[in-house]
Amino acid sequence: MGWLVTTSDAWYLKQTNVTVVGSAARSYVIADTNATQYRQILSDQFQRLTPEYELQWAALAPVRGQTNFSQVDVLVNFAMQHSMDVYGHALVWYMSTPGWLNNLSKDKLNTELQTHIASVVGRYKSVINAWTVVNEAIADDASGFRKCLFYDVLGNDYINTAFRAAHAADPNATLFYNDGNFEGYNGKTIAIYDMLRISIAAGVPIHGIGFQSHYLGWDYPGRANITKTMDLFASLGLRIRLTEIDVQTRNIPGPRAYKLQQEAAIFADIVTTCVEHHACDGITFWGFTDAYTWIPSLTGFTTDEPLLYDTTYVPKPGYYSVMCALNSRFCACDSAAVSTHVSSASKLRVSVVCLYVAIVFFAALC
Ligand code: XIL
Repeated sequence: MGWLVTTSDAWYLKQTNVTVVGSAARSYVIADTNATQYRQILSDQFQRLTPEYELQWAALAPVRGQTNFSQVDVLVNFAMQHSMDVYGHALVWYMSTPGWLNNLSKDKLNTELQTHIASVVGRYKSVINAWTVVNEAIADDASGFRKCLFYDVLGNDYINTAFRAAHAADPNATLFYNDGNFEGYNGKTIAIYDMLRISIAAGVPIHGIGFQSHYLGWDYPGRANITKTMDLFASLGLRIRLTEIDVQTRNIPGPRAYKLQQEAAIFADIVTTCVEHHACDGITFWGFTDAYTWIPSLTGFTTDEPLLYDTTYVPKPGYYSVMCALNSRFCACDSAAVSTHVSSASKLRVSVVCLYVAIVFFAALC
């Protein structure tokens, strides 16, 4: 298909000045002396790093009173060494509540929630300037607030409490609400919108919304729907980030090469959607190599290939399509090969670049 970037080219995602491109990372891989390629690609290619699980409450404090930040520090130190930005994820998530929080009284749970947020945000104040404060608080069936420990004991007020505590701990931090399965404009989109609209009107410090962007390659909602969702949240004055991009490939019909082409087209489409939306200012992938992805643990399928590089660190078509979506310099001239998922604006840019290349070529001949 011929993207203009080749493996040997010195063009990196890191060099884009269009928008910040990040990746989730795992501390145990960074600490593995054999994982040279992992560290190299992470630091060469990405401008932002999100700890994949290390900052979650159950990982930080499985035992009451024994908070251990050492795994987070591995990631933060790596990011600092390589001048990368760190995105904090996630202060409150129903999937990661340490067992010792169960059976606490309402008052005690409320205090623990605020103490946790104050200590984590306070500790990383000088390094982490943006946080997922609350993750996945709305039910996937759009029925309202997700039933979970915090909701059951504290009511939906836990969400506002969490944002206020994070803001008190670092008034300069940008605070995000993060969720998934709403990006394509559906009932959940509206449920999240209603929640955020009410909180923002009440003066709760919520500055942005994270679109997780975990997509199924065979059921991708597409740019028009995602843009509609972005418009809705931008109307609340929120900034938007794509926080956890990956694309599952296994059920895309056809041979592997075709699956990877489709995956590449979706990556290009979602990246373009962000780049061309005024409120969207960041793009983070949920890892970068198929060697380290959460999809097998989620789905049980080990055959999936949801990220930009294969398991041996070879860039896949998706890597090149992302480069092309970020900057038309990196696009191939055979724009017909660029799937229909890619916007007409991007195709126009490709055509302009190709025309320019052709003029230079003929000028050189004369
Ligand atoms: C996942 C991580 O990828 C796993 O390594 C971890 O064990 C569980 O969490 N939505 C989120 C992320 O917001 O925190 C989740 O990450 C993926 C779903």
